[in-house]
Amino acid sequence: MPVPDLVIAANWKMNILPSEAGDFAERILNGLQVVHGVTKIVCPASLALPTVAERLKGSEVYLGAQNVHHESKGAYTGEVSPSMVREMCEYVILGHSERRQQFGETDEMVAKKITAAIRVGLKPILCIGETLSEREAGDATVVVQRQVRTALREVPSLNDVVVAYEPVWAIGTGVPSSPADAQQMMEFIRGLMQEDFGRSALDLPLLYGGSVDANNVAGFIAQPDINGALVGSAGLDAERFIDLVKNAYAASG
Ligand code: 13P
Repeated sequence: MPVPDLVIAANWKMNILPSEAGDFAERILNGLQVVHGVTKIVCPASLALPTVAERLKGSEVYLGAQNVHHESKGAYTGEVSPSMVREMCEYVILGHSERRQQFGETDEMVAKKITAAIRVGLKPILCIGETLSEREAGDATVVVQRQVRTALREVPSLNDVVVAYEPVWAIGTGVPSSPADAQQMMEFIRGLMQEDFGRSALDLPLLYGGSVDANNVAGFIAQPDINGALVGSAGLDAERFIDLVKNAYAASG
């Protein structure tokens, strides 16, 4: 059976100034130079992308943005286009729950962004996940199914797509999902993708996100359908992030 890559991505969110980001990225790079066999991605705020891109050039640490607009250019004040991001980045996080909840992004908007990103050669990291009330109502799988299927509706293949399951109740709370519960959802997601895309779903990297840190990452990576992590706060400390990546690699066997 094909085994997807191990992927660890850090979402810096609206943290780390452009003036700090280059040195910070270089510390991560230095600490991770010895760790091969993991696709390592850092996702700074847009304004820090050029500096970090410069420092990471030619390295094994990839760069991702946190959002793009779906149009290629035009009168969209405050937005960045996929091709602008593509000049610096390989990846882009799309559909993060913070964008859905605080900036009104719908499944339809996320689908357009995914299509636009792929068109310019960006690899999307699609975020999906249920809220606490949706989980308590027994709707977690219904929500996740709707999110993933709508977002990938126009996508011809799963090549270069990464899916991150981030239950909203686990983000920034210090209370992660249990590895077993996360695995159950990942198996469900992979099953859906297999129905839609066939055997290529076996290669799809599925990341868990939500209060992942250096101490708990191994438990997630040990699960058969979890191929990595999307990390928030534990990615804001270079040493902790380096340890997290090393522990993930060790757990991947
Ligand atoms: P935390 O790791 O801080 O919970 O954030 C997760 C996240 O939202 C990554 O995209």
